[in-house]
Amino acid sequence: MRFLKDTNIKNKTVLVRADLNVPLKNSKVANDKRIRETMPTINYLLENNCKVILMSHLGRPDSLLKKGASPEELKKELSLRPVAEHLSALIGEDVAMMDDCIGIDVPDTRITMLENLRFHREEKDNNDEFAGKLASLADIYVNDAFGVCHRKQASVHAITKHIDSVAGFLLEKEITNLAKVTGDSIKKPFVAIIGGAKSDKIGVIRSLIPKVDSLIIGGVLANTFLKAKGVPIGSSKFDDETLEIANEILEAAGTKLVLPSDAVVADSFSENAESRTVDIGSLEEGWMIMDIGPATISNYKNILSDAKTIVWGGPLGVFEFDKFSNGTKEIAEFLAGLDSTTIIGGGDSAAAVEKFNVA
Ligand code: 3PG
Repeated sequence: MRFLKDTNIKNKTVLVRADLNVPLKNSKVANDKRIRETMPTINYLLENNCKVILMSHLGRPDSLLKKGASPEELKKELSLRPVAEHLSALIGEDVAMMDDCIGIDVPDTRITMLENLRFHREEKDNNDEFAGKLASLADIYVNDAFGVCHRKQASVHAITKHIDSVAGFLLEKEITNLAKVTGDSIKKPFVAIIGGAKSDKIGVIRSLIPKVDSLIIGGVLANTFLKAKGVPIGSSKFDDETLEIANEILEAAGTKLVLPSDAVVADSFSENAESRTVDIGSLEEGWMIMDIGPATISNYKNILSDAKTIVWGGPLGVFEFDKFSNGTKEIAEFLAGLDSTTIIGGGDSAAAVEKFNVA
């Protein structure tokens, strides 16, 4: 891998793939951590008199289209314009916002933001021609989008065939940190905590099984595993498509895979829902799992207390609602007090540890 710091980029036009997939509220950036994280790369390029062209995706336009959103609604909801405005305020200079990411005339400004890459289907399809059009905008490509490097998409993957490509400072920092948990010298016991709602993490779980001593599961992922085991989960969210893989993993993992034994459940997906704590297995139809329960928290802490290395991705409940944030909060605070190497990743988990002041 080639790094930005070892590359001569003086006076060049540089296309930066960042992960600016930030939460928005009323068309304003609700959490700018991802924007701030990529600032060292942007600042370095500006200091070297580069012309910076930023590109990113925002959200998942195809999911909104499937739900019946019109192209106009899509454009309104998932435009990167609020991100460009926020960045402009952060650095105190204009960021020229484009209406599209290809077929555009990039102005002669120091920083330009391309419109949401995923407004073009070709981005997710890793389309070579689309990647070539993006590459034609610049002399050199910098990947600073650590949060998207697992996606084989045009602005991450196909583009590197068309243009000189290097890793930015954020990507370099993340790789250096993760080296602590990917090499042979990893300190054991090694415990992973995987939660959240994204079903594609099931692949990560599969690859972690041979490496970890314990794998703690929470969030929607836990519901999928419970469902795969035939445990009633009421109206809880789960992922139908990964049930079969979940079963295979359960078999391969044996006692390494640890699931919740109790849960805080609610009668609707709302901050004000009626809630109660129940044992897993006694959930009634109409109720849904929103957080891990006290017995589960205590068991998870017990396992974590011996760990020398911990990797955590994905919250353990609906922590955005205070009422259902206790599991994620308790585990975050517990980890903050341990001496082990602890790496927490993923947008929601990062937001959670910041919310609980233990980042
Ligand atoms: C993220 O938020 O995890 C990254 O931006 C990747 O987004 P994606 O899961 O929609 O590809």
